[in-house]
Amino acid sequence: KTLGLIFDLDGVIVDTAKFHFLAWKKAAEEVGFELTEELNEKLKGVSRVDSLNKILEWAGATVSQEKFDEMAANKNADYLTYVDKMTADDILPGVESFIREAKAKGYPIALGSASKNAPRILKHVGIFDLFDTIADGNSVTKAKPDPEVFQVAAKALNVPYAQCVVFEDSEAGVEAANNTNMLSIGLGSKDVLIEADHVFGSFTEITLEFIETQATTNT
Ligand code: BG6
Ligand code: MG
Repeated sequence: KTLGLIFDLDGVIVDTAKFHFLAWKKAAEEVGFELTEELNEKLKGVSRVDSLNKILEWAGATVSQEKFDEMAANKNADYLTYVDKMTADDILPGVESFIREAKAKGYPIALGSASKNAPRILKHVGIFDLFDTIADGNSVTKAKPDPEVFQVAAKALNVPYAQCVVFEDSEAGVEAANNTNMLSIGLGSKDVLIEADHVFGSFTEITLEFIETQATTNT
């Protein structure tokens, strides 16, 4: 039985989570709110619009639609100044070799990201061609924890949902995978990703054999 391997981008393939945090922190300051790393966990995997809505809610602030659009655009412009300085060195340890090994074994590979900047980032760090399909913030209308982005990816790979494995660093993303019966592999802290089927600190700790065994018991 084949397996579909679906990778989140930010925080799984590249260490952009810290850039999103810095850019949102600056946006939050504009409405007098100090964004902490702890609250930032709630923004991981969450779309741009939903993230800004959460920040405004935490700040107890209301802004006009025009101001909202301007804040979102400024945040993205800030974020892209970090992104455009990225190189292949910003690919997180172990993930590229893991994907190459899985590809060599014939497993189809998808990206499943909320980001609208996904193709730009993948091209920038030089691994765009590793993916058989890209499902991202441009392909969906419903944001994580809705599973739409992973379902779009699975359909494009032509693999049943229950035979898909999702690699995620965010609570919202793990929830999205669980919501559609995909095996969820968390990258990060066990204390944060409590809902994930398995959690690892990094791809250097994950073997393809382990994933194959776990995925077989999931179906
Ligand atoms: C997710 C990130 O991958 O993409 C979120 O974890 C981000 O922090 C979301 O808000 C949307 O990304 P972008 O690049 O379209 O603003
Ligand atoms: Mg992520």
